Amino acid sequence: MKSLLEEIEACRLAFRQAIQRVKDRASLEEVRATFLGRKRGKVTALFEAFKNLPVEEKPFIGRELNNLKNELTAALEKKEAELIEVKKDKVERIDLTLPGKKRYLGSPHPITLFLEEIERIFLEMGFSIEEGPEIETDYYNFEALNFPPHHPARDSWDTLYIKNDLLLRTHTSPVQVRVMERQRPPIRIIVPGKVFRREAIDPTHLPMFYQVEGLVVDEGVTFAHLKGTLEYFLKALFGEKTKVRFRPSYFPFTEPSAEVDIECTVCRGNDSSCQVCGGSGWKEVLGAGMVDPQVLKNVNIDPERYSGWAFGLGIERTAMLLYGLNDMRLFYENDLRFLRQFRRK
Ligand code: FA5
Repeated sequence: MKSLLEEIEACRLAFRQAIQRVKDRASLEEVRATFLGRKRGKVTALFEAFKNLPVEEKPFIGRELNNLKNELTAALEKKEAELIEVKKDKVERIDLTLPGKKRYLGSPHPITLFLEEIERIFLEMGFSIEEGPEIETDYYNFEALNFPPHHPARDSWDTLYIKNDLLLRTHTSPVQVRVMERQRPPIRIIVPGKVFRREAIDPTHLPMFYQVEGLVVDEGVTFAHLKGTLEYFLKALFGEKTKVRFRPSYFPFTEPSAEVDIECTVCRGNDSSCQVCGGSGWKEVLGAGMVDPQVLKNVNIDPERYSGWAFGLGIERTAMLLYGLNDMRLFYENDLRFLRQFRRK
């Protein structure tokens, strides 16, 4: 049998090997429990055995045992301090001066931003916002707007039919009728929304685009109000100095009718081969006019007492002129380099 002295020595060697393998807190605690633990600690067991020694051996062996315990305790403390240092070192090695990873925050689509801007201008003038269905009946898209069946004016709207009586609305004007059916004058509304036409795509034509309809019906409403409101609106968008012109036109649901052009912001009339205005120096942005008395009759509003005006603005075309773009397809190509340039102010 080994003497207690030999066992003390063996315990010391075993501890020295064990402490060398310690790499983290958990293994440190494991070693502490193995050697100094109250229940299963090796040193604790040696102290138990010490109690049974003959009295004359006790002073010497007792000193050896205390030395062993002190050595172990000191080595465990030293290791613990080293582990804390390593951890600190790791934290300090993070260079806080390095630039962070940039996260791209999404932003609303430029057309959404532009619609918000238009809505803001009209809300300030006391208009309210209405909506209507994108799938429309022939009645609201055409008939109630004074296009009888087979009327040749229907041909200027290249309509996408779903079935006989159902179609994708070609303009936002049907919402005029829907609102006038349920609301009596005074009416002062705008209607932003998508419209659809069977069009060949080019820099200024899309098969799906946005319009904003405007409608005012009240007693004593005249063409002068229409002109004043649209000029105010277009100058609020494009700036005081922007040139606006009204040209006579024809729509079955307005009489008289006009088309409104603004100066081409891409070439300002200086490029005879301009892709946007075709060299004319002007670009049409909306159709407008005084609401035809027949349309008022169709919704039981007395045209002898009330009059009204309306307009329909093409959003992509107007946005394109505002941002000086030469191709409106840019809005729908989903090129992030283009889209990221537009942000909410
Ligand atoms: C209309 O749609 C009428 N509803 C406007 C109106 C409303 C007149 C109320 C009178 C009273 P028009 O087809 O001209 O009219 O279209 C209106 C605007 O939509 C045009 O001025 C143009 O800016 C835009 N637009 C027309 N076709 C396209 C297209 N294919 N792509 C993009 N924008 C278009």
